[in-house]
Amino acid sequence: MRLDRFLSNLPQFNRKQVRLLLIEKRVQVDGHIVCDPHHEVRAFSRIECDGQCLQVGKPARYFMLHKPPGCVSATHDPQHPTVLDWLNEPDKGDLHIAGRLDFNTSGLMLITNDGHWSRQVTQPETKLPKVYYVETEHVITDAYAVTFNHGIYFAYEDLTTQPAHLHVLGPRCARLSIVEGRYHQVKRMFGHFNNKVLRLHRERIGSLVLDERLAPGQYRALTAQEIELF
Ligand code: URA
Repeated sequence: MRLDRFLSNLPQFNRKQVRLLLIEKRVQVDGHIVCDPHHEVRAFSRIECDGQCLQVGKPARYFMLHKPPGCVSATHDPQHPTVLDWLNEPDKGDLHIAGRLDFNTSGLMLITNDGHWSRQVTQPETKLPKVYYVETEHVITDAYAVTFNHGIYFAYEDLTTQPAHLHVLGPRCARLSIVEGRYHQVKRMFGHFNNKVLRLHRERIGSLVLDERLAPGQYRALTAQEIELF
């Protein structure tokens, strides 16, 4: 929300007073004087006027979880455990996930209460590479990398997948980097070759790598540098 709108929504100020407060440099956001009425403020911003707190600013929270197989990428599920069940944190109702994984997929899962940040992570326009370790039922031949790089037509969505990079690690295992997050995308790409994915594990989103010290089901807060990556 714009700072002038935030201030004029408060009962103590009308629009004219807000304009004056800003011109007179009496308003601070997160400890800095702000005169620009268009300045964006959020639920996380601490806002003060003449040193008096108008909004405390709730803490923004960011976690990486090593998602184990066998839980749902959702905040509630009537039947199955969810990724949030692994977190021992207060106010879990404020948290949401940034990018889903299938029930049996493991790996890097991001959880936050910051909707602006999670949109940066998930919006397709940013084309962040998502890197997966894949094990398959049948042998992965040389044709896969070529086809994945050209893109595969998904009839249901009527689209061709963006170029994806495949690095074959062994007869039945590979590392795949995709820049989208279509429904069951990796399984469908291998499904194009009638090759079933037996194990799928997300290692990385953009430059953020799953911390190898985290065992499945463990999590930790992101560092300031990791939050800044998006
Ligand atoms: N692609 C899939 O098929 N499943 C996932 O969980 C993630 C990507």
